Amino acid sequence: MSLTKRLGVTLGKATSLLAFSIATIAVVFKGLDDPEPVHVARMTSDMKRLEENFRQQNKSCFVLGASGETGKMLLQELQLRNIFSKITLIGRRQLNFEGKEFDNLVQKVVDFEKLDDYAEAFQGHDVGYCCLGTTKAKAGTQGFIRVDHDYVLKSAELAKAGGCTQFHLESSRGADKGSSFLYLKVKGQVEADINALDFDRYAIYRPGVLLVDRQESRPAEWLARQFFTAFSAIGSTSMSIPIEMVAKAMVSNTVLQPENKVEILENKAISTLGKLL
Ligand SMILES: NC(=O)c1ccc[n+]([C@@H]2O[C@H](COP(=O)([O-])OP(=O)(O)OC[C@H]3O[C@@H](n4cnc5c(N)ncnc54)[C@H](OP(=O)(O)O)[C@@H]3O)[C@@H](O)[C@H]2O)c1
Repeated sequence: MSLTKRLGVTLGKATSLLAFSIATIAVVFKGLDDPEPVHVARMTSDMKRLEENFRQQNKSCFVLGASGETGKMLLQELQLRNIFSKITLIGRRQLNFEGKEFDNLVQKVVDFEKLDDYAEAFQGHDVGYCCLGTTKAKAGTQGFIRVDHDYVLKSAELAKAGGCTQFHLESSRGADKGSSFLYLKVKGQVEADINALDFDRYAIYRPGVLLVDRQESRPAEWLARQFFTAFSAIGSTSMSIPIEMVAKAMVSNTVLQPENKVEILENKAISTLGKLL
């Protein structure tokens, strides 16, 4: 057999092997998918009516982390769906918005190291959304714990004291206070500590890898994103999620009336909710 022919056969075999490997991994991931949440399917058809009912109640909300990737999307979705009469952004810096659509927007700039001094910023909101977070690479171990646990918990405490009844926390897939991985442990711990505050309603979102074109360079996350983008095209929804889905899910879930006051929404449930409207 000539060299060209042999090369062609080898290439053909390699391509088949690659296709087979991708298909196998996709099947495995599919098997790992989180179960479909029952209440979501039941509520789908009523979404528009529930949203209108909610709008009529003239509620207000606050968003933590509105300058971040999920927070930006969440704000966009909140503006679009227009379910709140007032939206307050609580953050460490002032953000710029122009246009009439931002008329119902209020900004409170706070020092997260002295949150008790800014208790007023957390008063009088019906619903709170938290998309706050940093990374160990960016803030170091102590800095990461400070932001992802201490700032988040203190904000939730002040919000509860200020009359907030519904808290929505963006956590992470695999969050577990017993984990030996710092990231998952901190996420699990803050979930649990906020649970102890006993909000009337508490929703924990545990997305997988967030699929987003992030401006900031995070090489490991970029690599994971390339990998999961390829697989999400094949259909698995357990490991990654487009960031818009998380934002849409958080807004849709706000107007739903779940059976339990505490809900944990894993990646698949977020994805299902995110497709409701
Ligand atoms: N990346 C993923 O694949 C992934 C997967 C699952 C869950 N999550 C979790 O989802 C949440 C949102 O992630 P994201 O990627 O959308 O966040 P992001 O883009 O990194 O934004 C983080 C937000 O937190 C604020 N923040 C960070 N450090 C702060 C500090 N020291 N003081 C005050 N504010 C601070 C940022 O404010 P500035 O704009 O002022 O910095 C920004 O508004 C995080 O809790 C993250 O752990 C992420």
